[in-house]
Amino acid sequence: MEEELKELVKQAESDILACASYNDLLNIKAKYLGKKSVLNSLYAKMRDIPSEERPAFGNLINATRKNIEDLLEKQNKAIKEDAWKKSENRTAIDLTMPGIFSSRGGLHPLTIIRREIDEVFLGLGFEIAEGPDIDDDFHNFDALNTPPDHPSRNLADTFYLEGGGLLRTHTSTVQVRVMEKYPPPIKIISPGCCYRNDKPDPSHSPVFHQVEALVVDKGISLSDMKDMLSQFASIMFGKNVSSRIRPHFFPFTEPSAEMDISCVVCGGTGCRVCKYSGWIEMGGAGMVDPNVFDILGIDSEIYTGYAFGLGIERIAMLKYNIPDLRILYENDLRMLRQFKGELR
Ligand code: PHE
Repeated sequence: MEEELKELVKQAESDILACASYNDLLNIKAKYLGKKSVLNSLYAKMRDIPSEERPAFGNLINATRKNIEDLLEKQNKAIKEDAWKKSENRTAIDLTMPGIFSSRGGLHPLTIIRREIDEVFLGLGFEIAEGPDIDDDFHNFDALNTPPDHPSRNLADTFYLEGGGLLRTHTSTVQVRVMEKYPPPIKIISPGCCYRNDKPDPSHSPVFHQVEALVVDKGISLSDMKDMLSQFASIMFGKNVSSRIRPHFFPFTEPSAEMDISCVVCGGTGCRVCKYSGWIEMGGAGMVDPNVFDILGIDSEIYTGYAFGLGIERIAMLKYNIPDLRILYENDLRMLRQFKGELR
């Protein structure tokens, strides 16, 4: 009898392991434990068994029943686990799943352009110099030969800080810092932020960017400056773009000039971007005034030099066809996303 029941459990086990669903299990359960099962019929046989053997017989049947129930429960768990593994909304980590990518940031258009400008000038033999955004009267004005009553020193133009100091109004402060520190030959550019007390409008912002260039050596002339400008314009905007300089005034250069490039939109024939002049203003320039050299201890009998300052926003606006400078500062994601691919 015992052997028979062991055999029954074995058979039940192989049937149970073959079950792939809860329904299959229910059928097998009915087969082995249900009313018409072999095990159940054994309960009826109890009566025919001598009373002293009954407890052992009963224990045997109960143990068999328990064995089969355990096997059913184990397989039920296995089926559930398998289904969970295959289900899509499980929360456990599945290392074979492709990752969920968080969205990647991009560079701001002004950063892209600034880096491009850096690269152009590095290729032309310049080094990059830096100076502080918070500077002083000496570096922003005095050393640049700017008289005490010059209008640019006015509160209406310059942000002065409590307790002294100011926010630099141009990157020409870095010219001063470089000439203070290093003897000629000098060939640097200095890109950076500038601050002026201007109301924001399509072409003004109280914070903006310039890139300053300074070249000092023996025998540097205005034609070197013009040549550098035209090289920069053609590398940055294309071979067909030409450049020119117009007389202007800055306290720290003599002669002084404003630099234009031919309109990159219409090619010089006249359009809305160049206000029908055919030319677009790029910034100020000139030969370093000998007074500046004298203030900074560079012998103006031996050395000459040129400097210029380009507006980075202006270049970005032309390159990317941005009609209003303020767009560059509002940081609307719809605008920024257009530059996402341009990571460098
Ligand atoms: N610093 C001048 C400005 O901000 C530009 C400039 C730079 C002019 C260098 C001459 C030489 O307008």
